[in-house]
Amino acid sequence: MAQTTFTFDGPSDTSIVAATYEQSLREYRGSQSHFPLLLLGDALTVLKNLPAESIDAAMTSPPYWGKREYENGGIGLEADYRDFVDNLAAVFEELRRVLKPTGSFWLNLGDSYENKCLVGIPWRVAFELTDRQGWIMRNSVVWNKVKSGMDNTKDRLGNVHELLFHFVKQHKDYYYDADAIRSKPRESKIINGAVVSATGVSGVRYKRQIELSTDLSLEQKERAFVELERTLAEVREGKLSDFRMIIRSQQRATHSDKEKVSGRAKELREKGFYFLRYHPNGSKPADVWDIIPEDTQRRTGHFAPYPVDLCRIPILATCPADGVILDPFCGTGTTLVAAQKLGRKSVGIDISLEYLEFASERCLGLI
Ligand SMILES: C[S@@+](CC[C@H](N)C(=O)[O-])C[C@H]1O[C@@H](n2cnc3c(N)ncnc32)[C@H](O)[C@@H]1O
Repeated sequence: MAQTTFTFDGPSDTSIVAATYEQSLREYRGSQSHFPLLLLGDALTVLKNLPAESIDAAMTSPPYWGKREYENGGIGLEADYRDFVDNLAAVFEELRRVLKPTGSFWLNLGDSYENKCLVGIPWRVAFELTDRQGWIMRNSVVWNKVKSGMDNTKDRLGNVHELLFHFVKQHKDYYYDADAIRSKPRESKIINGAVVSATGVSGVRYKRQIELSTDLSLEQKERAFVELERTLAEVREGKLSDFRMIIRSQQRATHSDKEKVSGRAKELREKGFYFLRYHPNGSKPADVWDIIPEDTQRRTGHFAPYPVDLCRIPILATCPADGVILDPFCGTGTTLVAAQKLGRKSVGIDISLEYLEFASERCLGLI
């Protein structure tokens, strides 16, 4: 198998194993290659032997509980879901040690039924991580798979979503490149010589509303005109792509009216107006993503449902360009393929040699 570094569960002396892993990781980091470093073995054992704070980001889709059997057994076959949750949590505790303080961990989990009852596996695992291990959960993303799979039940809805949690180790200063994931902003344009924002706001309507307002004082009106002109100038200069103006008694406020809850409500009462400014670099993605699973995308190979597209935002936002992202249950290597495409190094761990070979061939572009 060309270009692949496998570290087998060879020597039983753990210090030798750890030294071998550490050296492989160091050499890999120092190399020019974006081909993944593949480590064969049980995720918990391998992670225990990796150096602390050596990985920039992690993303994974572990086995479902009780749904699928993988070649070598492994996690997912526990009779009781509580044992499954404990086994996963043990792996993620070790992952936390291996992750740099600035690192992020993205966890995709599907749910399972037991005796017709949805178990709530994703949240059970998530609470273990936040409540017992000290992870900070920044987002729970709904991955809308758009179409549900085969489902013959007649007494409940189809299941079409899975969850993707984003965890970090520290409250601030974790690596996050929000600009790398913004959608391209629409640009302002000139219509009949006047500048108009991306969504057609020219300011004419706001000016009339300020003028005719019976609710704003003269002073407030003057200030509103000045700030509107300043905002329009920013649109003209390309510093702002779009904005909305909220004027007291004219627009419906975009917040709670309770001043205790909203600083905006206070601003509206005291000043008479405020602006909603749209970021010049575009808007950031929201936490519901519509992505069709890999195995229904009619690609040539047959891969796990977890799609390459699901990894794009996590990698771009939370793995630095010269960083390494790790997947402790890498299977056929989707996270690794995505990392390679985005110019990042990656480490994949799996208990199955067959899957690692598959991942390797995928990254070589052979399948
Ligand atoms: C849902 S699949 C991962 C799919 C993967 N995202 C892909 O792109 O193919 C889960 C993987 O976990 C592996 N696995 C199960 N138990 C494991 C363990 N204890 N240590 C390492 N890998 C394990 C299985 O072999 C399987 O490949």
